[in-house]
Amino acid sequence: MNQFGRRLSFSTFGESHGKAIGCVVDGVPAGLSIDETFIQSQLNRRKPGKSEFETARKEDDKVEILSGILDGVSTGTPIAMIIYNTNHKSKDYSNIKDIFRPGHADFTYYKKYGIRDYRGGGRSSARETAARVAAGAIAKLMLQELNIQILSGISEIHGIKATDFDYEYAKTSIICALDKKVEEQQKEVILKAKNNHDSVGGVARVVIKGVPVGLGEPIYYKTDALLADAMMGINAAKAVEIGDGFASSQSLGSQNNDEITSKGFASNHAGGILGGITNGDDIIINTYFKPTPSIFQPQHTINIDNTDVDFSLKGRHDPCVAVRGSIVCESMAALVIADMLLLNMGRQISGIKQYYM
Ligand SMILES: Cc1cc2nc3c(=O)[nH]c(=O)nc-3n(C[C@H](O)[C@H](O)[C@H](O)COP(=O)(O)O)c2cc1C
Repeated sequence: MNQFGRRLSFSTFGESHGKAIGCVVDGVPAGLSIDETFIQSQLNRRKPGKSEFETARKEDDKVEILSGILDGVSTGTPIAMIIYNTNHKSKDYSNIKDIFRPGHADFTYYKKYGIRDYRGGGRSSARETAARVAAGAIAKLMLQELNIQILSGISEIHGIKATDFDYEYAKTSIICALDKKVEEQQKEVILKAKNNHDSVGGVARVVIKGVPVGLGEPIYYKTDALLADAMMGINAAKAVEIGDGFASSQSLGSQNNDEITSKGFASNHAGGILGGITNGDDIIINTYFKPTPSIFQPQHTINIDNTDVDFSLKGRHDPCVAVRGSIVCESMAALVIADMLLLNMGRQISGIKQYYM
């Protein structure tokens, strides 16, 4: 189950401390200009070790395209990309080889498979999300041709909330903060947790602009359902909201309905989706990330023999995974919308005729 999407699908491979990670993106229409520097720029946004707010593991995340492109243009065949791991320190993990880190996937992977790649969390590590960002960059190139824009940023860290959502500012912020007013406070709570050998959670917000009306495949492949699937599949994501999300359950119908005018919707509580189908308004997604499970305080757990143990972790970890997680959310959203666009082609007989006649 390492594949995602239907018409535009991708699968990823690799482990945190293995030789490489990568992806195969299938279903990319032929003739799409593939700008390798753009793909690399997206990976650079996610790559670790850029600041004190991230894990100190330094990876260049240099992407190499192996197939599917000729003279800078997609050929309609699978696009394979590889990123070599260069900075893994597996010995940092030798003391947790046989014990389960609380909050991480060690316990469940071991119980399910009977074997666990303990080096950096193996396949359960968010290192894998670099491959999703590479795949997402291909989807973004496709969306750019259609003037669909995807932006993201951090709306909340440890309860400190943005009230303004400035996506251009987020591009310049080292923690991808959407609101300059609270950025310093957000930075402080991350560093405070880090200095206490602890971690904090946060919320990543994604907006998708310029989406045409009609994307989404009721009943079981609705746009909101697939976006939630995509976001919840990201490591440490614990909840997803579309539009007003949780708040809409406390609202009145008269407040929550987006009235329709001849010029468009008067408000956007729905977050751009009705009945699982895009309504042409901005799609808004908030993804809630838990605090990083790997913390450096002494903790209690069990080992593979079910013996109680106290342990202290070594290694390098993000103090707040939401920060780099926001770029992964943006990439997954691009992949969902690109898939929906391709699925929607030929939805009406007039569209099919236009293509063939
Ligand atoms: C971008 C990103 C970076 C992450 N970095 C770390 C990390 O450095 N250390 C860690 O323990 N977990 C990290 N995680 C979270 C774990 O991968 C995740 O909590 C773990 O796989 C268990 O899965 P679950 O939290 O979804 O249940 C990161 C997540 C993301 C999205």
